Amino acid sequence: MEIFETVHDRKNTRSVKWDMVKDLFQSEDVLPMWVADMDFQAPDAVNQALIDRAKHGIYGYTIVDDSVKSSIVNWISKRHHWNIKSEWLSFSPGVVTTLHMAIQALTEPEDTILIQTPVYTPFYKVIEAHNRTIVKNPLVLEENRYTIDFDDFEEKLKQGVKAFILCSPHNPVGRVWTSDELKKMAELCLEHNVLIISDEIHSDLSFPNKQHISIASLSDDIANNSITCMSPSKTFNLAGLQASYAITPNQEMRKKLEHYFLIQGFHGLNTMGNTALEAAYTYGEEWLDGLRNILYSHYTYVKEKLEKHTDLRVTDADGTYLVWIDCSSLKLDAKNLNKFFSEKAKVGLNAGVDYGEEGKQYMRMNIACPRETLEEGVNRIIQAVHNN
Ligand SMILES: Cc1ncc(COP(=O)(O)O)c(C=O)c1O
Repeated sequence: MEIFETVHDRKNTRSVKWDMVKDLFQSEDVLPMWVADMDFQAPDAVNQALIDRAKHGIYGYTIVDDSVKSSIVNWISKRHHWNIKSEWLSFSPGVVTTLHMAIQALTEPEDTILIQTPVYTPFYKVIEAHNRTIVKNPLVLEENRYTIDFDDFEEKLKQGVKAFILCSPHNPVGRVWTSDELKKMAELCLEHNVLIISDEIHSDLSFPNKQHISIASLSDDIANNSITCMSPSKTFNLAGLQASYAITPNQEMRKKLEHYFLIQGFHGLNTMGNTALEAAYTYGEEWLDGLRNILYSHYTYVKEKLEKHTDLRVTDADGTYLVWIDCSSLKLDAKNLNKFFSEKAKVGLNAGVDYGEEGKQYMRMNIACPRETLEEGVNRIIQAVHNN
């Protein structure tokens, strides 16, 4: 699809990815392939809905009405085969915001919270900021694919964990968890009375023929023990519009969460986020399926090309547009590895160590860009490895 081939100049748009290159990588000529947004335009229907809304010219307080809620209910039913009720929805400017709220609303200071490392950096911050304690269940690399150490998982739960922040699909390792894996985790959480907070922001971005499953969709008991965080922001490149939602079937838990939103002074979605969310979920399916094909072809390209021309290894993944690259063959410590990519290869990736100690030999690459940009980034890396 042409929309995924066009190169757009994003400089001077207040883009975190493109307008912070000099600040972050100390040089203007670094190609940014880091923060998780895309260099693609949103679907035409989303852009048109925003233009139409802007033409009205009045941006007063906005309600999240039944029509917006129905678009979410239908989307989750169609894409993830989970039938939710609209009253289970709570709205939030971002998934990270919801994680902060959920931790405060449903756990106590000193409680221990489990995460599976390496993992999305704010998970650490969300726990530490509220004086809760991190417990790690490190993921295990088996034949180039990450899996879960269930013995360790259970052992940690037995030690008195209060909540588990699941990353599903997983950023940065790219796993779309299977029904068996999810069931096993959920049942252990039920057995040991551990609340599940499931971050499913990447749920729409499984590769073709891979199906994301919401952990809460597996049974009523699991649903009653879960908060699921979702958003159209990764899927349709709407992060700057700040619209996300939590799905909490358990009424008591939902009330506690919503109370927390209320006492922070938060109410509703912004006008443009509301508009974009509904348009994306109503008209975005074809665009999304095109995107998933492109992302898979980009992933395959990066993997084949890097592994053919260098000793870098690309972790086997099932989805997301974040590629987890094993750079241990370069024999550099975390600091020098990061420097190698920004100073020698001139590509701005995320340092793996930011996702936990386990990631110190890795770099994370964002492949959600036109092929031309992707090839430029990959060629720069290959060249730098050869010159090393
Ligand atoms: C797992 C995960 N959760 C949350 C976010 C950010 O969500 P938001 O912008 O809605 O706070 C990201 C962005 O990269 C992510 O990868």
